[in-house]
Amino acid sequence: METISIVIYICILLSTLFSYPLIKKQKKKHERLVKLPPGSMGWPLIGETLQLYSQDPEVFFTAKQKRYGEIFKSHILGCPCVMLASPEAARFVLVSHAHLFRPTYPKSKEKMIGPSALFFHQGSYHSHLRKLVQSSLSPETIRKLAPDIEAIAISALDSWASGQVVNSFHEMKKFSFDVGILSIFGRLDDKYREKLKENYSIVDKGYNSFPTNIPGTPYAKALEARKRLSEIVNEIICEREEKKLLDKDLLGYLMNFKDERGQVLTKDQIADNIIGVLFAAQDTTASLLTWILKYLHDDRILLEAVKAEQKTIYEVNDGGKRPLTWSQTRKMPLTYRVILESFRMASIISFTFREAVVDVEYKGYLIPKGWKVMPLFRNIHHNPEFFPDPQNFDPSRFKVAPKPNTFMPFGKGEHSCPGNELAKLETLILIHHLLTKFKWEVVGSQNGIQYGPFPVPQRGLPAKFWKESKHDV
Ligand code: HEM
Ligand SMILES: *[C@@H]1O[C@H](CO)[C@@H](O)[C@H](O)[C@H]1NC(C)=O
Repeated sequence: METISIVIYICILLSTLFSYPLIKKQKKKHERLVKLPPGSMGWPLIGETLQLYSQDPEVFFTAKQKRYGEIFKSHILGCPCVMLASPEAARFVLVSHAHLFRPTYPKSKEKMIGPSALFFHQGSYHSHLRKLVQSSLSPETIRKLAPDIEAIAISALDSWASGQVVNSFHEMKKFSFDVGILSIFGRLDDKYREKLKENYSIVDKGYNSFPTNIPGTPYAKALEARKRLSEIVNEIICEREEKKLLDKDLLGYLMNFKDERGQVLTKDQIADNIIGVLFAAQDTTASLLTWILKYLHDDRILLEAVKAEQKTIYEVNDGGKRPLTWSQTRKMPLTYRVILESFRMASIISFTFREAVVDVEYKGYLIPKGWKVMPLFRNIHHNPEFFPDPQNFDPSRFKVAPKPNTFMPFGKGEHSCPGNELAKLETLILIHHLLTKFKWEVVGSQNGIQYGPFPVPQRGLPAKFWKESKHDV
C-alpha cells in the first residue's frame, strides 16, 4: 500500500513539475494570440445580422473594409465570424491552410441538399467524390456534350421568342437545369426528367424559407419533395443496373466507384451528390446568364462588337446549318472577356463560409476555434487596387491576366468549382445562338439588385425576345 501511494505521489509531483512550464507556455502563447481582429460584434445574439441583411451586402462589407481594413470581426446569423477582404487572406483560408478550416453550412440547408454531398466534407471522402465529379465535368467529357447543349439552347431561345414578356432569370434557370441534368444523367428519359423538374422546383421554393417541420409550410413541403427526388434517382439507378448500362456520366461514375477497401457508395450518398451538383449548377449559372443579358443590353456598342464576333462564326457554319464545334467555342476572345467581366461585376458567389477547426493565427490576429471565416470575393473583385474603376463594365481589362488570387469567381483550392468549364461552355453556346438569331428588349427600368441569395437583376430582368428577321440585319 505504502509503495503504491508513494508512486502515485511521485507521479503527481512529476506531472505538475512537467506540466507547469507547459501551462506557462500555453498561457504565453494565448497572450500572444488574444488580439482579435478589429470590428464590432453588434447586439447580443443577433449581432449585425440586420445591418447585413437590411441593405445591399456590398454596402455593409465595403463600409467595414473602409473602417477596419482587410480583416475584421463581426457577428451574423448567430455566429461570431472573421471577414477577410484581401487576396492573401483568401488564399490562406482556402488554399495554403485549408486543413485548418472546414466547410460549414446551416443544418437546415445541409438537410435539404443532402448531408453526404461533397461540399460538406473534407478528407478522403471529399477527395474521392471530388475526383468523380471533376472527371464527369472535365473538358474532355463535356466537349462531347456540346451538340446536346446546343440543342437545349436553341429550344430554350425558340420558346422565349413569342413576343410575350418573360422573366429572364426563370427562363435561364430552366436552361441551366436541363444542362445540369444532361451532365449528370446523359440523355435522360423524359418521364424521369419531368418528375425531377417538378419535385426540384418544390425544393427550390422551400430552400430559403424558414426551417420548420410544421406540415404545409414551404420548408416542410420542400423536405417531402427532396425525399421524392432521392426515390427518383434510385429508380434511375435500378433501371441502369437491370439494363447493365455503363454510361460515362456523373451517375455512371458514382455507381461504379469503389474505394481502396472495395467499398461502394450507398444509394443515399449517390442521391445526395447528384442533388448537390444540380443545386450548385442551376441558380449560379442562371444568375450569370441574366447579368450578361443586362450588361450587353446596356452597352449597345459592346453588343454590336460581340455580335460581329459571333456572326463570323455563324457564317463559317453556313448560316448556322452546321453545329458549333468545341474548337469554335475556344475561339471567341471578346465573348469570353465579356463572360469574365460579368463574373467580376456580378460576383455571384459574393463570399463563402468556413469554420476554424483550431485557434488560428493570421498576421498577428487570433481567429478563435469555432468562429466562422468568410473570404469576401466580391470585395476583392471590386477593389480599385486590383480592378481600376471597378463599377465600370469593361471586358478589355481582361486582356491582361488579373494578379494572382484577385479573381476567384469559382473559389480557390480543394473546394473550388468543378463545374467551371461547363458553366462557361453553356454560356458561350447560349450567347452564340442568342446574338446570331435573336433580339431582346428589357422591360421597364432595371437597375436594382435582388438577392435570392444570389444577386440577380430586379424582378429577374423581365424582357421580350424575338427572332431577328432577314431585313433587320
Ligand atoms: C456561373 C456558374 C458557377 C459559379 C459562379 C460557381 C461558383 C462556385 C464556387 C465559388 C464554389 C466554391 C464554394 C466554396 O469554396 O465554398 C463552387 C463549388 C462547387 N460548384 Fe460551382 N459554380 C458555378 C457553376 C457550377 C456548375 C455548372 C456545376 C456543376 C455542373 C457546379 C458544381 C459545383 C460543385 C459540385 C461545387 C462543390 C465543390 C467542392 O466542395 O469540392 N458549379 N462553385
Ligand atoms: C414527384 O415525384 C413523384 C415520384 O416520386 C411523382 O409521382 C410526382 O409526380 C412528382 N411531382 C410532384 C409535383 O410531386
